[in-house]
Amino acid sequence: MTVMTDAIVVEGLAKRFGVTTALDGVDLTVAEGSVLGLLGPNGAGKTTVVRILTTLLLADAGRAEVLGLDVVRDADAVRASIGLTGQYAAVDEYLTGFENLEMVGRLYHLPKAEARSRAGELLERFDLSGAADRPAKTYSGGMRRRLDIAASLINRPRILFLDEPTTGLDPRSRLAMWEFIAELADGGTTILLTTQYLEEADRLADRMVVIDRGRVIARGTGDDLKAQVGGQRLEFTLSRAEDLTEVAARLRPLAFEDARTDEQTRRLSLPVHGGTELLAEALRLLEGSGVEVLDVGLRRPDLDDVFLTLTGHAAEDVPTADETTSEPVPAAGGTR
Ligand SMILES: Nc1ncnc2c1ncn2[C@@H]1O[C@H](COP(=O)(O)OP(=O)(O)OP(=O)(O)O)[C@@H](O)[C@H]1O
Ligand SMILES: [Mg+2]
Repeated sequence: MTVMTDAIVVEGLAKRFGVTTALDGVDLTVAEGSVLGLLGPNGAGKTTVVRILTTLLLADAGRAEVLGLDVVRDADAVRASIGLTGQYAAVDEYLTGFENLEMVGRLYHLPKAEARSRAGELLERFDLSGAADRPAKTYSGGMRRRLDIAASLINRPRILFLDEPTTGLDPRSRLAMWEFIAELADGGTTILLTTQYLEEADRLADRMVVIDRGRVIARGTGDDLKAQVGGQRLEFTLSRAEDLTEVAARLRPLAFEDARTDEQTRRLSLPVHGGTELLAEALRLLEGSGVEVLDVGLRRPDLDDVFLTLTGHAAEDVPTADETTSEPVPAAGGTR
């Protein structure tokens, strides 16, 4: 019989920064060998959870264990068995890619020869061999991100923390990063990943925990969360963004909640209960309005809908919380 053990256990975690409550009693577990997606809007507390779990920050209350080790009492042992890629790239600009990795290896007390061979191996794996001897300041954003993840793998961690691993990457680099992460997960690495891209969580995470204002507001698989939201989504793409309001108003009687509109894509999404008969009805309600519809369809709710329903706002268009008092996450060096 195989027993699923928890690689990460978090209980009642609380943290305040002055008057800001960053975490207000967070509980979560991550089964060994699985991927947990920690989701939440800006300022939800994701990075704070990651920093506490990676021993960079002390909680005010609650406890956290990583591989059975207490993150406060056994901090050194925890650090030795985890990898962290922080939200902000932590590479040394003036060192080459190779030197960056070698340095991190040395910080982990690898013998010089081993640090060098591991550096070469990881550069190869992350498609950076060609740039190995260039200073990191000449790297593109995607290359830095890859170098950063490579650095977090130097000590072959059993647990990897990735704080928004693909923020700022173009679609192609993001896809490549997803493949790297999926490979690591397939290899048995336990991963806790924070993200604001719900598609990313949907692709990579076995389970998800959604937090908002320092509290867990939902948890489960992607399907669990979608089922929780319910209904279907009637979707329209219009040729003119100006018509969105009018269409939303005309179709309101069909919906069980307000429509979601996006000016940029000229799309409107309407939460409805029912089937394809609604399509005909919707088009009838638009008759005589002069609105030009480019595309119309009915689909299951996606994670963006989940997010909107749970938090009252979409994942990616949340105003940034006041961060004037926050300090940056400590840079690589001694913190990995
Ligand atoms: N060092 C700090 N000093 C003061 N406030 C802080 C500090 N670190 C975090 N906070 C505050 O705690 C709250 C949670 O921040 P956290 O960085 O954990 O959010 P997040 O979910 O990672 O957000 P984002 O998606 O923007 O990265 C925010 O209100 C933030 O401003
Ligand atoms: Mg963060």
